[in-house]
Amino acid sequence: MEKVLKNLKDTEKLARQISKEVCRKDGPSVVALYGDLGSGKTTFVQFLAKALGIKEKILSPTFVIIKNFTFGDGRCLIHIDAYRLKSAQDLLALGLKAILRNKENVVVIEWPEKIEKYLPSNTSRICFKVVGENARKVIMENF
Ligand SMILES: Nc1ncnc2c1ncn2[C@@H]1O[C@H](COP(=O)(O)OP(=O)(O)OP(=O)(O)O)[C@@H](O)[C@H]1O
Ligand SMILES: [Mg+2]
Repeated sequence: MEKVLKNLKDTEKLARQISKEVCRKDGPSVVALYGDLGSGKTTFVQFLAKALGIKEKILSPTFVIIKNFTFGDGRCLIHIDAYRLKSAQDLLALGLKAILRNKENVVVIEWPEKIEKYLPSNTSRICFKVVGENARKVIMENF
């Protein structure tokens, strides 16, 4: 499915819709976020966290590859930014496989290309494209 997000409000609305989807699903929910630098991946994660009721600030992790935020009734939003990874090895050492298997987890991944082969077959995908200063096109798969 393809959508144009005209502004930040539209991105927030999409994040709210997806927050409902990920809460409905039982079992781990994995959302891979593709797109160039500055295309809106972290911004989307910030809105998703807000929609899930997470109060902590979601930053674009510079040195931290993985950040956990609890929400709801014992669930966990895991924000992974694989940009600085040389290979999947570092994330495997941080327990990637167990993270992707844990039913309580909603895992959002920036730069998922680096760990593509470890992503479960039911991974949902969003690809962000810059089409204007505040406009983004998103291509969504498997929602
Ligand atoms: N409709 C929109 N949706 C998302 N971001 C938008 C939108 N309009 C403007 N922006 C701006 O675009 C920038 C997107 O930056 P963001 O850090 O989210 O990108 P990113 O994809 O995570 O980049 P990186 O690969 O460097 O992590 C932010 O400054 C945000 O405010
Ligand atoms: Mg980012």
